[in-house]
Amino acid sequence: MPEREVWGTRIGFILAAVGSAVGLGNIWQFPFKTATFGGAAFLVVYLLAAVAIGLPAMLAEFVIGRRSNLNVVSAFRGLGRREWRFVGIFGLITGFWILSYYSVVGGWVIRYMVGSVTGAYFGDPAGYFTTINAGLATVGFHAVFMAITVGIVAFGIEDGIEKATKVMVPSIILLLVGLAVWATTLSGGGEGYQFFLSPDFGDLRSNWTDIVPFAVSQAFFSLSLGMGAMITYSSYLGADDNLGQDGISIVVLNTFVGVLAGLVVFPLLFAQGVEPGEGGAGAVFISIAQAFSELPAGRALGVIFFGVVLIAALSSAISLLEVVTAYVVDNYDISRPSTAVGLGLVLFLLGVPSALDIAMFTWFDAVAYGALLPLSVLLILVFVGWVLADEALDELRKGTNGIPTLGPVWLWTVRVVVLVAVLATLILGVQGLAEDPGILPPV
Ligand code: PHE
Repeated sequence: MPEREVWGTRIGFILAAVGSAVGLGNIWQFPFKTATFGGAAFLVVYLLAAVAIGLPAMLAEFVIGRRSNLNVVSAFRGLGRREWRFVGIFGLITGFWILSYYSVVGGWVIRYMVGSVTGAYFGDPAGYFTTINAGLATVGFHAVFMAITVGIVAFGIEDGIEKATKVMVPSIILLLVGLAVWATTLSGGGEGYQFFLSPDFGDLRSNWTDIVPFAVSQAFFSLSLGMGAMITYSSYLGADDNLGQDGISIVVLNTFVGVLAGLVVFPLLFAQGVEPGEGGAGAVFISIAQAFSELPAGRALGVIFFGVVLIAALSSAISLLEVVTAYVVDNYDISRPSTAVGLGLVLFLLGVPSALDIAMFTWFDAVAYGALLPLSVLLILVFVGWVLADEALDELRKGTNGIPTLGPVWLWTVRVVVLVAVLATLILGVQGLAEDPGILPPV
């Protein structure tokens, strides 16, 4: 067997993990959920969730990955706990489910890129979103996004991806900072800051059973947790990496990009008089499209912006497809290209309902947030906290150079606090799913 690869540099791992984490979750999903769940109150809960729940959960995945040096399913066997393989399999299923509609949004992004060249959305950005978010053409663009993802995973132009990732994160940040600065000059944008940044805790008190579980799941989605991605990436780590420090860098950078997106989207929405809740899944697309139709060189800017978002989305989608592909290639006698194409086809079909009907799309998203993500992370927490236990602590301590770590605090947080919080998220999420037939597809 060839020796298993490890990351060349520490920053290489951090950038790859950030490349997986930063994607549509930050630029599209985060502002959209914030808008849906009432603005600043959601932001506050989200920030808390990312640090207090997301970070410890990410470290739990790192521990599994680095200690086993194996793919997400075999990892459990490698750790001598073969009977826990179902946890890895559930992660794969969660990733699969999410990728099916993630690709639909990837298709919207491609469509907006094309639309920037022709100026298709100039004049009526809100109306444009309604026309493009579902239908046969949407299925076509979804197919294109999935095909690109499959192509990269099948032929493994890893060099290309690595290089793209290195430019991608800085360019997203630069573009978003530029837009955020420009947004401060808009008249009527002030209310947007109010909405995004000054929390109304009354809102939180009356609505916490909705807000809290979605904020926690949003942290998982955005940090690429519960889908095997971080387990896989950390399986290529050497023993000298300080997992805690790496985790903190990734969480901080990822959160920063999401908040930056909010600072662009909300002033823009309010300046146009669009109620953020009304924008729904289109919040980002509508507001950004409006910005470009007003800016000089808007078409060129639009192509660049949506191009960068597309790269961010692809680098996330690839990491999702790679997790499943790696598992199949490692365990069955099927070639990498056939595996990627076959999985891509299934994913495409699974995404077709979401591309045809926005209600289906919303339902897929709701199931992922309400049930799959919290359940998947919960299983990982139980495994690391109660099954691996001291071994997990030992793994976390490696690479810290004897500096006393907060290891035991982490372990007990994982065992009790985080575990209970995620369990509550799951229960509230499932209840929400059962109670709100509005988001269920018509039978
Ligand atoms: N975190 C990515 C995003 O925010 C989505 C993703 C989830 C990617 C899981 C890989 C694995 O867009």
